[in-house]
Amino acid sequence: MVYFPILIYNINNAKLIIIFYLSPFTLHPLTNHMLSEKIILATWKMQLSISESINLAKKIKEKLKNHKLEEIDVALCPDFLAIPAVSEIIQNTNIDLGSQNVFWETKGAYTGEISIKNLKHFGVKFVIIGHSERRQNLLESDRMINQKIKTVINEGLIPVLCVGENLEQKNNNQKDIVIMKQVRSALTDIDINNISELIIAYEPIWSISTTKIKQEIETSEIEYTNQLIKQIVMDTLSPQKNISSSEFKNKIKLIFGGSVNSSNIVNLMRQNHVQGVLVGGASLDAEEFTNLINNTL
Ligand code: 13P
Repeated sequence: MVYFPILIYNINNAKLIIIFYLSPFTLHPLTNHMLSEKIILATWKMQLSISESINLAKKIKEKLKNHKLEEIDVALCPDFLAIPAVSEIIQNTNIDLGSQNVFWETKGAYTGEISIKNLKHFGVKFVIIGHSERRQNLLESDRMINQKIKTVINEGLIPVLCVGENLEQKNNNQKDIVIMKQVRSALTDIDINNISELIIAYEPIWSISTTKIKQEIETSEIEYTNQLIKQIVMDTLSPQKNISSSEFKNKIKLIFGGSVNSSNIVNLMRQNHVQGVLVGGASLDAEEFTNLINNTL
């Protein structure tokens, strides 16, 4: 929607006319980036000290220096305190920056929280929201996740919504319903017209490398689940508007996370509904992570 509010002032008999032009672009000033076909997000969780984060960022930058990364978006998501240093290291490269969380209010008396304005200050582009480790350890609720997504969209950054079932839910055949609930509640009251870009990561908790009883996931199951997520997103957002396949493709990217490495990435990226990956453990080693990127191309 485009608005043209007009203000007319009478100053010494001369008319001063001010016209405001508000396009969706000006409402979302940072949304002029279009995501590439493939997305690789590295999340270092709370695994590294600041100096380790700096060293790793430098090594990754060095190894990718001859890479144009033209068809691929690569972003590093360090812990909050390492963001300023990593931001400086990857300046003027094609590597982007992400954060692992954000608070839903933009300013105020919220002790211990991190504002999106300060993330933007350091050039953060992606914000991971609703990771299972936060849902479990910090009791992050669907409502909080929904509020965070709205804030990230309003502020023009790209939300990376994480959804996924635990082992018990999988074994009880509750996966589809769990995913449906998580996606629907995360997108409640969100207008497709306001979404510039949104990433949804399917991360079954039982396939994450650090999970106690880790299990391998079949690629066909990832493909099935991402198709399911696509359908739920279409249904959730479509009361406002019918979403065409091309609009969906342009705005919403479906990725996978869970023990992704430089070997299994090849098969993963062959799937129709997998446009990228969210990598934990394998992103902590510069050699392994850059091999993973090379094997994606
Ligand atoms: P791993 O790649 O270590 O399994 O971590 C996945 C994850 O939780 C990414 O958010």
